[in-house]
Amino acid sequence: MVAGMIQSHPRISKAVIPAAGLGTRFLPATKATPKEMLPVVDKPAIQYVVEEAAAAGLDDVLMVTGRNKRPLEDHFDRNYELESALNRKGDAARLAKVQESSDLATMHYVRQGDPKGLGHAVLCAAPHVGDEPFAVLLGDDLIDPRDPLLQRMIEVQEQHGGSVVALMEVAPEQIHLYGSAAVETTTDSDVVRVSGLVEKPDPADAPSNYAIIGRYVLDPAVFGILRKTEPGRGGEIQLTDALQQLAADEKIGGPVHGVVFKGRRYDTGDRGDYLRAIVRLACEREDLGPDFRTWLRRYVTEEMQQP
Ligand code: G1P
Repeated sequence: MVAGMIQSHPRISKAVIPAAGLGTRFLPATKATPKEMLPVVDKPAIQYVVEEAAAAGLDDVLMVTGRNKRPLEDHFDRNYELESALNRKGDAARLAKVQESSDLATMHYVRQGDPKGLGHAVLCAAPHVGDEPFAVLLGDDLIDPRDPLLQRMIEVQEQHGGSVVALMEVAPEQIHLYGSAAVETTTDSDVVRVSGLVEKPDPADAPSNYAIIGRYVLDPAVFGILRKTEPGRGGEIQLTDALQQLAADEKIGGPVHGVVFKGRRYDTGDRGDYLRAIVRLACEREDLGPDFRTWLRRYVTEEMQQP
């Protein structure tokens, strides 16, 4: 090491993706298929999330899964039978698509057992993560790769230490669907200091319209807090409640900051938003977009007008 050089902290390399939910909003599609495997255009939703982690340099991905989630493991593994069939046909383009998902990151899996909430899912990652900061990515939120968010959050964590959440301003009548943050400005226009957090507040009690969207970079001190966190909203152990404790007492695990995201986010968590996400992404695709946009325009202006 060069004399006088400041020892930099280890680069964040681990991502945790909770994926144990039952996906009841998408029944019957999710009866035997994990909701994370539902296609968004032609890729399973979860692949976008793993791609985002990999693009931010997180090459160690732990998925917290549950019953009926075997297809997730298969999707990120090699499929030799399919690969050799495509090889024999000389179909290099499709072969590349098959191999893409198994080459993204080193994948690990742990099962949650009892679905006791997001906080509990994150706690299941403790033995794998150890004593280093790590990222959490929720599968229902897709962040457009053209508007990188996680990289910025990692930068902010490296600068300030502690934990960082992703925030987005939402309409007041939407805030009850999210964790809401009390914030103070900082000298960086896209960074706020988080002084408090409430999970899914009634609009009248919301500290602000800043909603947590599903990206976090967390100090490992969160595990100690989660072990002691009682069930909160919906009778579940809430990650937001543990973060509230970190925000309230900086001595535990450093400060909590928020990166205010103004880019493109697609919600695949409910059916209407899922359909909107597919239409938007399909419209923007270079291969499918031109034809699809022409059809959509005609459908909206002509066919939809007919009684
Ligand atoms: C979870 C979190 C919530 C956050 C949201 C983002 O809620 O508990 O704080 O705002 O994800 O998508 P869920 O949507 O899983 O109920």
